[in-house]
Amino acid sequence: YFAKVPQAPADGILKLSVLSKADTNANKVDLGVGAYRDDSGKPWVLPVVHKAEQRLAEDPTANHEYLGVGGLPALTSGAQKLIFGADSPAIKDGRVYTIQTISGTGANMVAAVFLKQFKQPQDAAVYISKPTWGNHRSIFETAGHEVREYRYCNYTTLGLDISGMLEDLRKAPRNQIVLLHACAHNPTGIDPTEDQWQQIADVIQERGHFPFFDCAYQGFATGDVDKDAYAIRLFVARGMEMLVAESFAKNMGLYGERTGCLHAVASTADAVPAVSSQLNRLSRATISTASAYGAKIAGTVLQDTRLYNEWVENMGEMSRRIKTMRDLLRDKLVALGTPGTWDHVSRQIGMFSFTGLSTKQVGVLRDQFHLYMTDDGRISVAGLNSGNIDYVASAIDQVVRS
Ligand code: LMR
Repeated sequence: YFAKVPQAPADGILKLSVLSKADTNANKVDLGVGAYRDDSGKPWVLPVVHKAEQRLAEDPTANHEYLGVGGLPALTSGAQKLIFGADSPAIKDGRVYTIQTISGTGANMVAAVFLKQFKQPQDAAVYISKPTWGNHRSIFETAGHEVREYRYCNYTTLGLDISGMLEDLRKAPRNQIVLLHACAHNPTGIDPTEDQWQQIADVIQERGHFPFFDCAYQGFATGDVDKDAYAIRLFVARGMEMLVAESFAKNMGLYGERTGCLHAVASTADAVPAVSSQLNRLSRATISTASAYGAKIAGTVLQDTRLYNEWVENMGEMSRRIKTMRDLLRDKLVALGTPGTWDHVSRQIGMFSFTGLSTKQVGVLRDQFHLYMTDDGRISVAGLNSGNIDYVASAIDQVVRS
């Protein structure tokens, strides 16, 4: 058996953490995996999370029982309101079902298996942006889908190729599945404007495509949870059915707790019992019941007005620091006269910047400057801080010139 198993390729993001951990050089800078760091380069436990944990620790009724198959209601109901809006007619009409998942990845996988079983037509492909988070292809192919790409990044301007995107979605056969990043596109940091989202929604509706939103950065992108949910709420307001994956890894800093949800929005409440029964069945077959600790933290924050407001402030702090680092890096590269234009670093949004550095330049930065980023030139801007930004700018400058 095992002797015949071929080697799997290493994960392009996770391998960087291993390489970086093994590198003992004092100048090392890890801009690989997308995890927030504070200005001293340390992981940041959100103060609000700390408070929720204390509350849980002091709760005399706390126990370690299984959650129900749908997950923790405090989390799932709070997550629904967060993503669709507290006054969402879809929620009020009973058209939304939410199941707790193993963070965003688990939500993607439950969605992928669900769509494999129930997609209409059965030969529909899944369209992902070029480029997208490396795991998307892996998840949907693992679930047995054919995966195709639509144009997304204009590799010359490092902005959105809106005409290419619309053309590809228009030319695709009718009734395909389209994976969209709700905000803070990973890896590019390039988001459509509100007007462009309208155009995307037009084409998706015209062509009868099924939208699947991956939302891993709500509130983390702009510090404004409503703004970051614009695209999802627009599609819901247009009466479209959809699936939405939601993660609390980045915006609540619950990376290891694997806390997330999958939402199904149906056009009528009548469809919900069957859809929810199938999602519950898939979840039972894969994880049995969801994990409790992160859900209790997130549920506590989402259900308490004071903690919720504090959470929004904490997200603002993260997104402002990232924005400051974007602007600083751009300014430093401009001041150094580094060949090329660097405005895109400032313009892009969320955790990442798609720098435009080539795979070869990324290799030199890794091998000679101990600077880690993914092969496609993506940097996790959260890894920049006032202590390493000069070194990073100077390293990029030297490599671009050589
Ligand atoms: C990333 O893209 O770096 C993050 O979303 C972490 C991951 O799991 O890949």
